[in-house]
Amino acid sequence: MAVPFTTYLFSVKKEIPHLDDDLILLLNEIASATKEISGKVRKAGLLNILGSAGKTNIQGEEVQKLDELANEILLESLKNCGKASQVASEELEECIVFSNSGYAVAFDPLDGSSNIDVNVSIGTIFSIHKDSVKKPGKEQLAAGYVIYGPSTMLVMSLGKGVVGFTLDIESGNFLLSHPEIKLPEKGKIYSINEANKNKWTSKGLKKFTEYLKEEKYTLRYVGSMVADVHRTLFKGGIFIYPADKKNTNGKLRLLYEASPMSFLIEQAGGIGTTGKERILDIVPQSLHQRVPVIIGSKWEVEKCLEFMKEE
Ligand code: AHG
Ligand code: MN
Ligand code: MN
Ligand code: MN
Repeated sequence: MAVPFTTYLFSVKKEIPHLDDDLILLLNEIASATKEISGKVRKAGLLNILGSAGKTNIQGEEVQKLDELANEILLESLKNCGKASQVASEELEECIVFSNSGYAVAFDPLDGSSNIDVNVSIGTIFSIHKDSVKKPGKEQLAAGYVIYGPSTMLVMSLGKGVVGFTLDIESGNFLLSHPEIKLPEKGKIYSINEANKNKWTSKGLKKFTEYLKEEKYTLRYVGSMVADVHRTLFKGGIFIYPADKKNTNGKLRLLYEASPMSFLIEQAGGIGTTGKERILDIVPQSLHQRVPVIIGSKWEVEKCLEFMKEE
């Protein structure tokens, strides 16, 4: 049988100095919380947890019932495990502080909310720092996501490459299915919401997407960052959520979307940039700050930066 998640963590302890028993316990808590979320997602239509929760969050978004439920499940897990110093969530205005030392967890409990009611892949994203969430992404101890797709997969990095687990319904375990996920140097897919093209503030970006069309790239855009990044990790290419006239810093949040996803993409051999700077170098100024996101294979990201520099 493939290696279960917990067994894997203990097996790599000697290679990863910061992976102590407390962090293993915390990662297990997150994994089990996402198993519970996966169970709810897979029968959402039977549980009256679809649709709007009838409130607006700090992001100005209409909160979905599943956003709220996933948030509660993760919060409960992190509180009970007693290893988190503080927790930041897309769905919480403020950081919850449990203690002044320990593991600081930032998470997007349910990413891709616009896809919940139409049964398209969604996910959960998490990022773990020592003591405080407000550190640059390059200092993450662990980052990952769970994608609730045709199968439920947990993809994670502890700073030594990227590894993937698949939820086995029979055993209820995340089992090692992808021991080493490496991003292809170059892909043939680009992923961006072209409906916003006339609002993009970078002319170079427009020229870049036109260039990709001439190069016969395919456009794939799910609208769930977890799904679009997961495909990019496996197929290569580029995912972009740029700055536009409405969202001058883009839409995606640094702490629990851009930073963990950039960590994974870099660990898999790719690049994560805002177009101006490496995403993992940014020192967070505020909990929900947004940054433009250009992540993916080296070839496409470097080509995109070339076009953006020419404007
Ligand atoms: P969330 O559902 O956590 O608020 O995130 C939604 C994000 C991200 O998943 C996706 O890449 C992006 O919103 C899609 O935005 P558009 O619908 O504006 O393209
Ligand atoms: Mn949201
Ligand atoms: Mn999200
Ligand atoms: Mn979300």
